[in-house]
Amino acid sequence: LKEKCPILQFSNLGDERGKLVVIEGAQAIPFDIKRVFYIYDSDSMVVRGQHANRESEFVLINVAGHSKVRITDGKEEFVVSLDKPMMGVYIPKMIWKDMYEFSSDSVLLVLASTHYDGGEYIRNYDDYLKEMAN
Ligand code: TYD
Repeated sequence: LKEKCPILQFSNLGDERGKLVVIEGAQAIPFDIKRVFYIYDSDSMVVRGQHANRESEFVLINVAGHSKVRITDGKEEFVVSLDKPMMGVYIPKMIWKDMYEFSSDSVLLVLASTHYDGGEYIRNYDDYLKEMAN
């Protein structure tokens, strides 16, 4: 599972004026970017995500603050601490993820390979497990 969901390290083009991170679609990450969204003002008690996507691939980056993402394929699981603007995690299709323990200053940036389509989400974990068992 960890090989399918690599941690990505982005290069820092910063200088004495400050840091600058560039992420080019299909170069620094494995897909062209069609959509960007970000999550902030979630607190340490909230759990977000809780779904898998049939079509979308994602890269998650905490551009400020920190959070955790639990990643599973129904058999294995691992947790990534997102706590640096220069690192991200790639989440391919059909992988279940939960995001949680958001710091109060957390800004979680998500790059997606698709436009939004609510119909491609699997939001019931039992349904997801059944599908992955096939
Ligand atoms: P949701 O999928 O619950 O967010 P998360 O995965 O971050 O926990 O999305 C919350 C609401 O926003 C839901 O009504 C769907 C809507 N939404 C869009 O319209 N477009 C999008 O790209 C996303 C991610 C969500």
